[in-house]
Amino acid sequence: MTKITAAITGVHGWVPDYVLTNKELETMVETNDEWITSRTGIKERRILKGENQGTSVIGTQAVKGLLEKTGNKAEDIDLLICATTTPDMLFPATANVISNNVGAVNAFSYDLQAACSGFIFALSTASQFIETGKYKKVVVVGADKMSSIIDYEDRQTCIIFGDGGGAVLLEPDTEGYGIKDSILHTDGSGEQFLHMKAGGSRKPASHQTLDAREHYVYQEGSQVFKFAVTNMAEVAADIMAKNNLTSDDVAWLVPHQANKRIIDATANRMGVSSDKVMLNIHKYGNTTSGTIPLCLWEYESQMKRGDNIVLAAFGGGFTWGSVYIKWAYDSK
Ligand SMILES: CC(C)(COP(=O)(O)OP(=O)(O)OC[C@H]1O[C@@H](n2cnc3c(N)ncnc32)[C@H](O)[C@@H]1OP(=O)(O)O)[C@@H](O)C(=O)NCCC(=O)NCCS
Repeated sequence: MTKITAAITGVHGWVPDYVLTNKELETMVETNDEWITSRTGIKERRILKGENQGTSVIGTQAVKGLLEKTGNKAEDIDLLICATTTPDMLFPATANVISNNVGAVNAFSYDLQAACSGFIFALSTASQFIETGKYKKVVVVGADKMSSIIDYEDRQTCIIFGDGGGAVLLEPDTEGYGIKDSILHTDGSGEQFLHMKAGGSRKPASHQTLDAREHYVYQEGSQVFKFAVTNMAEVAADIMAKNNLTSDDVAWLVPHQANKRIIDATANRMGVSSDKVMLNIHKYGNTTSGTIPLCLWEYESQMKRGDNIVLAAFGGGFTWGSVYIKWAYDSK
């Protein structure tokens, strides 16, 4: 029987218009452009402003653009998975809101939460539905409105995160293109270093939690940094070894955009030169589930059919992993 792989056949991204620069952050917290640029590589990030504007706004724009550019009808989508850490509401799923907004009336949809590894966890999950032959068109969205859970009085976190995201379409391929392999990891003991203290079932919202500013990202930056540098680099090297890929074989590394120094360490560990590393952290910061689809979108025209692409991410949880893709198409 012919083996079916799940190929990405289109990608589209979307970011809001408002640009929050390092200069503007200097007016909000005790920081400066030089510190932020040298410690993180970030110059600016996008912010979704306005009332009632949730993550679904980002996901909806990305999916609409994706369907338009790939010439697909919304009603032909079988399944839509949205990776996000900032859902519009605790329920229903943001994926359902997006499906409804775009008219994907025949799709079933759900959210997947794996913090900054959300997109690759969702991609790997979605690919199984294609590989088994169950579905033909699956959309994976990675989107976050991080500004909704960031404390703009905390200089450790407010400099890093931004809003944005993207979506990819997965379809069956029988010529060996598409998602070839994935290695995914979770270590729940990482909770202590990166989490949101209140707003969940353990500690529901109250006047006390609001007063204590517990509805924001809590992060012990240097602990997260140490973990990320080691594990993101390691898992990217592991997927290369497992698939007999040398650094020459790799056309592109698509790293989660959390910190330029972590990206550099991953590329070094893989032996991949900087011209093969997708990078847009300077423009968007860390958009959590959004970073990898935003990179794929911006670099789409430079990828060629047959390119070996390695995605790598890490995030709160802790979660981390890598996906190996043989790119399926040349851009028009
Ligand atoms: C947050 C992060 C940028 C901080 O950089 P760092 O080099 O680890 O810096 P440290 O936390 O050790 O702090 C160094 C000093 O800079 C200060 N500092 C922290 N944030 C600052 C800011 N925005 N501007 C200026 N100074 C700052 C600290 O207070 C500290 O000062 P001190 O030495 O007087 O105590 C870095 O730890 C990081 O990127 N961590 C990973 C975060 C991440 O990727 N999160 C997403 C997970 S998916």
